Amino acid sequence: MNLYKRNLLTLLDFTPEEIDDLLTLAIDLKDKKHKGIDHALLKGKNIVLLFEKDSTRTRCAFEVAASDLGMNAVYIGSSGSQMGKKESIKDTARVLGRMFDGIEYRGYKQQTVVDLAQYSGVPTWNGLTEDYHPTQILADFMTIIEQKGHLKGIKMAYLGDGRYNMGNSYLVGAAKMGLDYRMVGPKALWPNEELRNKCLEIAKETGAKITFTEDVINGVKDCDVIATDVWVSMGEDASVWEERINLLKPYQVNTRVMSFAKDDAIFIHCLPSFHNLETKVGMEVYEKFHLNGLEVTEDVFEGKQSVVFDEAENRLHTIKAVMLATMKENL
Ligand code: CP
Ligand code: NVA
Repeated sequence: MNLYKRNLLTLLDFTPEEIDDLLTLAIDLKDKKHKGIDHALLKGKNIVLLFEKDSTRTRCAFEVAASDLGMNAVYIGSSGSQMGKKESIKDTARVLGRMFDGIEYRGYKQQTVVDLAQYSGVPTWNGLTEDYHPTQILADFMTIIEQKGHLKGIKMAYLGDGRYNMGNSYLVGAAKMGLDYRMVGPKALWPNEELRNKCLEIAKETGAKITFTEDVINGVKDCDVIATDVWVSMGEDASVWEERINLLKPYQVNTRVMSFAKDDAIFIHCLPSFHNLETKVGMEVYEKFHLNGLEVTEDVFEGKQSVVFDEAENRLHTIKAVMLATMKENL
């Protein structure tokens, strides 16, 4: 594997072999972690975590992974630094590049993480932007491999909002890794035409089968994997809930939808998820629209087919693999 000094901004920049290498490394690192085998291979390095949006999994995965690898991580939240207010991204990147060996960015614009990578000169990793969430796809694909043994030919349906970070990233990942992938949702929320065409081109080379459909039953039929994401993402205005619910209610993952998939199909979700009323936002939406679960129902989320917490754990191992592969020479 030679990913030394590379950035992870979108999976579009990686070959199927490189993605495969990262997943293999993540599986090995998980094994080492579970067996208590030391893997502090990046001792003395420093990374910075820039979060303009909130996070539980991504932040914790980067911090724990950094610690396991022997590194020090500095967290900078949405306030408390000069970035974007008194100092441009370009200047911030050049400062951070002098002090740190790697940069993680979570925020709004994809261009911000591209600029950080370009001007810092150190490996830069996308921890979620409006357009892509590549480290999440690595964790999801690792989970699929654990459950199903492979990726190629796996029948996977993603139901819901296709034009945001998760929908875009699943499409790219599926095209790269040769899945039989169905984007199931209203046309208005499909990935944009440019990305759809790009991924259809990639699919020709990899043997992936890509389908865009508004038809739930045809989309989900015989699938090995069913995925969804929140209907309103971080940074979107709360006023879009009503329109989004109207568009996406038919695409809720519930027991009926799961019944069209294979009997041993798994359910995945990047989390956080609105599957009951135990969250502030879930409760607010319930009071207005009287829905108990949104993108997924409680019974599916808590059911036997759900592997969402394996998936959450795999954020740690895949993020660790990304940092190790891009920061360690001659791995
Ligand atoms: N899935 C994911 O990125 O979760 P966080 O928002 O908690 O980081
Ligand atoms: N689409 C979601 C993903 C969260 C991990 C969001 O951007 O909020």
